[in-house]
Amino acid sequence: MMKILVIGSGGREHSLVWKLAQSREVTKVYAALGNGGISETAECFNINPADFKALIDLVRRERIDLTVVGPELPLVEGIVDEFEKNGLRIFGPHREAAQLEGSKVFCKELLQKYKIPTADGEVFSDMEDAKNFLGKCKFPRVVKADGLAAGKGVMICKTEEEGCEAVEKIMGRKIFGEAGERIIIEEFLKGEEASFLIFTDGEEIVPLLSSQDHKAIYDGDKGPNTGGMGAYSPAPVVDAQVRERIMREIIHPVVRAMRKEGKRYCGVLYAGLMITEDGLKVLEFNVRFGDPETQAILPLLKTDLIIPLNACIDGKLGEVRLDWSEGASSVCVVLASQGYPGKYEKGKEISGLEKVSQDEGIYIFHAGTLKKDAAFTTNGGRVLGVTGVGNSIQKAIDNAYEAVRKIHFDGVYYRKDIGFRALDRGDGS
Ligand code: AMP
Ligand code: GLY
Repeated sequence: MMKILVIGSGGREHSLVWKLAQSREVTKVYAALGNGGISETAECFNINPADFKALIDLVRRERIDLTVVGPELPLVEGIVDEFEKNGLRIFGPHREAAQLEGSKVFCKELLQKYKIPTADGEVFSDMEDAKNFLGKCKFPRVVKADGLAAGKGVMICKTEEEGCEAVEKIMGRKIFGEAGERIIIEEFLKGEEASFLIFTDGEEIVPLLSSQDHKAIYDGDKGPNTGGMGAYSPAPVVDAQVRERIMREIIHPVVRAMRKEGKRYCGVLYAGLMITEDGLKVLEFNVRFGDPETQAILPLLKTDLIIPLNACIDGKLGEVRLDWSEGASSVCVVLASQGYPGKYEKGKEISGLEKVSQDEGIYIFHAGTLKKDAAFTTNGGRVLGVTGVGNSIQKAIDNAYEAVRKIHFDGVYYRKDIGFRALDRGDGS
């Protein structure tokens, strides 16, 4: 019997809490910080995910058996190393392995060294060198800050002028601080993106279902990028053949490469891929579950989530097989506050949740919400993720939007076209 702590406060963490609470082995779930929805299932503590000491104190005091980390920042800052030093059990990669997400330069150099396909790119630590290089480039080009930048460190530049402006912002004005001491300038890739997540204990690999997220704020993937306006799973673009190639050309080589480098990777690894005419290319790795991909993937997972998590930590992943709802698809639509990803107001009352909470094939995951007495109010840019499951992408979409239309708060905004790429592929009936 286990007590579990989930670190984080978004929709991804709500879906992790929801799934872990169903485990027969789990007696109690805790969260730090949690949110309104999470507080219905887990006991929430107001501890910042960066405050390792306070988290360790909590785990000791409550005799928590396992900690699961949602966001990347604590992983990149070494929370796993710190917990293990204190003899505490935690799921996720060590600090050195988390560099795969924490440093785009580390990631690019590893991919180049081991000939794992990725966009051609050059690393710069001098602003003038970077600008001179841009003078010789074809456009569009992509400029990326090395370190963590809350999802804003990637700039797609259509002209040399835009490229120099991006370099100036990152290296001159240092808008991302130290994260911009080095940059990568890389070729712009055309194709369809997919998210491919796996569990690994450093050696064995167990893939999750494929997925695709929708980062842009407006329908048709237009407008500025957000933390993610929706996701669906599985992604039809990842057919059996593509999946086999992802495993052979990317996943196995990177897990092997990390081992060879003495940075054995244990945890969930998220590969952001571009499927181009020229083959598969890695866009990025994340060292954690995706948000909102996880809110689409987990409702399809039949296996108890605690099983792969424990097996990764114990180096026994070879014994694990994941079972998925056969033939089912899932779509998560994010409901956001008016103005997001720019300025928005908080504190709006949310209504209609009770109308959908019992609906079959509907799962509501809270992101930015607060619970006060029996009512929920908005407390962030992304407020809720509404996941619909069905026996086709079209049915999943219909289910999700039927539920979405019953939920309301002042200024509610959501995309109307989540899943459109899957439908365009003709997999919609
Ligand atoms: P990243 O954080 O590196 O995944 O970048 C965020 C987003 O920027 C990706 O999901 C892509 O949509 C886009 N992106 C990043 N690198 C490239 C590239 N080389 N070519 C085209 N789009 C890119
Ligand atoms: N869905 C993108 C991410 O989790 O980074």
